[in-house]
Amino acid sequence: KSGIEWNPSRERLIVVSNRLPFVLKRDDLTGKLIRKSSAGGLVTAVAPVVVDCGGRWVGWTGDCSLTVDDEIPEASEEDTTPTAGLLKHQVVPVYLNQQQFDSYYNGCCNGTLWPLFHSMSDRAVYSSEYWQDYIQVNQLFADKTLEAIEFSKMDGPDIVPLIWIHDYHLTLMPSILRQALNEKNSNALLGFFLHIPFPPWDIFRLLPWDDEILLGLLGCDMIGFHIEDYCINFLDCCHRRLGCRIDRKNLLVEYGNRIVKIAALPIGIPFDRFQRMAEEAPRLVKEKRQKIILGVDRLDYTKGLVHRLKAFERFLEKHPEHIEEVIFIQIAVPSRTDVKEYQELKEEMDQVIGRINGRFSTANWSPIRYIYGCVSQAELAAYYRDAFIAMVTPLRDGMNLVAKEFVACQIEEPGVLILSPFAGAGETMQEALLINPYKIDDVAELICSALEMSRDEREVRMKNLRRREKVNNVDAWAQAFLKAIRSTTSMNPESDSK
Ligand code: ADP
Ligand code: G6P
Repeated sequence: KSGIEWNPSRERLIVVSNRLPFVLKRDDLTGKLIRKSSAGGLVTAVAPVVVDCGGRWVGWTGDCSLTVDDEIPEASEEDTTPTAGLLKHQVVPVYLNQQQFDSYYNGCCNGTLWPLFHSMSDRAVYSSEYWQDYIQVNQLFADKTLEAIEFSKMDGPDIVPLIWIHDYHLTLMPSILRQALNEKNSNALLGFFLHIPFPPWDIFRLLPWDDEILLGLLGCDMIGFHIEDYCINFLDCCHRRLGCRIDRKNLLVEYGNRIVKIAALPIGIPFDRFQRMAEEAPRLVKEKRQKIILGVDRLDYTKGLVHRLKAFERFLEKHPEHIEEVIFIQIAVPSRTDVKEYQELKEEMDQVIGRINGRFSTANWSPIRYIYGCVSQAELAAYYRDAFIAMVTPLRDGMNLVAKEFVACQIEEPGVLILSPFAGAGETMQEALLINPYKIDDVAELICSALEMSRDEREVRMKNLRRREKVNNVDAWAQAFLKAIRSTTSMNPESDSK
């Protein structure tokens, strides 16, 4: 149970995201569709909220061969993921064809917006063909959501649909939906949460469709970002690109006759759930005498994986006394495998890991254990619990939940978190060892300091980190979002009371 305050007689929650919280796969033997869990910060955070509020989830099935004739299955009995409680009538599937998948998802979302919003503008591609498909798919999601809104209204005239749209795939959807609702004289609260950074104006303006994205988002009543820096960037872009009046102190944007509320709402994790899993998980790594240095990431170039491996290599070079004493376990889940940049990263990882293992392995020991795949949360919890150091060193990251999951699972010998200040998590997790991931030599030395840190210091740091994440957990985040969006009805009364 999430403990979210929810008024089922008045409110209906409709979550919209590019992906449903699971992907559908056809079972090779039976030919039946089954749910497979999908990794990523968004799903981990939002699924328990929808389950608890009895909400609906509009999203893509994750497979282009599926059509309306394919029935969504219920979760299997063995499914213990947080999405297992999501019943099939709560799922509103969106079907994308191969061309939309290539152009909207691989092209615009992950070839243009993802790198640009992470301030890696040299990797961004700009294609008007991709952009046209992005518009078209946003329209498709808006149509599906409208159907879900109409459906929820059948429960009574006083029902307020609360639409919570997620992430960079759907930035145009709010204004499309706003217009359609206005035409129907229908009410709903529209909120948006961006799970990735919002870039500064100097970067954002490179996008040929920068104004369209801002106008799309301004269809909302409220927009949430992880940290205040992203809020300020957004306000700045609205002011400089659209000439909007902005209030930096109260985080408001005025556009046309409406006021849009902006809020910094750092996402959290289901802390108690991770702690419980860590208490129950069996020990996975038998060699207790070896200290585990752990990395857990989607295989994404923003995560700084190659820099991290090079820092570990430098550490072994400079500190041979630690050889055979440590083992680096990198768990990397394949991601966006049709995008060239991701394919290149996979090759580079294989090559760098091969080189380091070839260079330093002894008869009984290899420095890096590389797990390329999705691992269950229960198994992850065991790795987090047993790790001596977690390396969370992205080059840029909206928040990063792995850092938080690690501290939630640290229930035995306290370990050390090495964290990049370029992740949103770096803003609040100040007791971590913060380091610029581009400084390879310094990261190498920091690994050494972490290994040699006194137990007392590790304990104090970890205690403080854990205390904060336990309170600022995912429920607190969802609660804060819902509270903030409800409060906007006094600013734009037409949203709630048509
Ligand atoms: P992002 O949202 O960019 O993927 P986050 O660190 O915020 O990054 O969230 C990643 C989520 O995906 C976490 O909940 C983490 O547990 C999960 N995850 C990452 N790697 C794996 C993996 N190899 N197997 C299973 N889950 C993973
Ligand atoms: C990040 C994004 C999510 C996305 C996830 C996995 O967390 O913010 O929107 O779902 O990565 O990526 P994918 O492309 O597989 O959905």
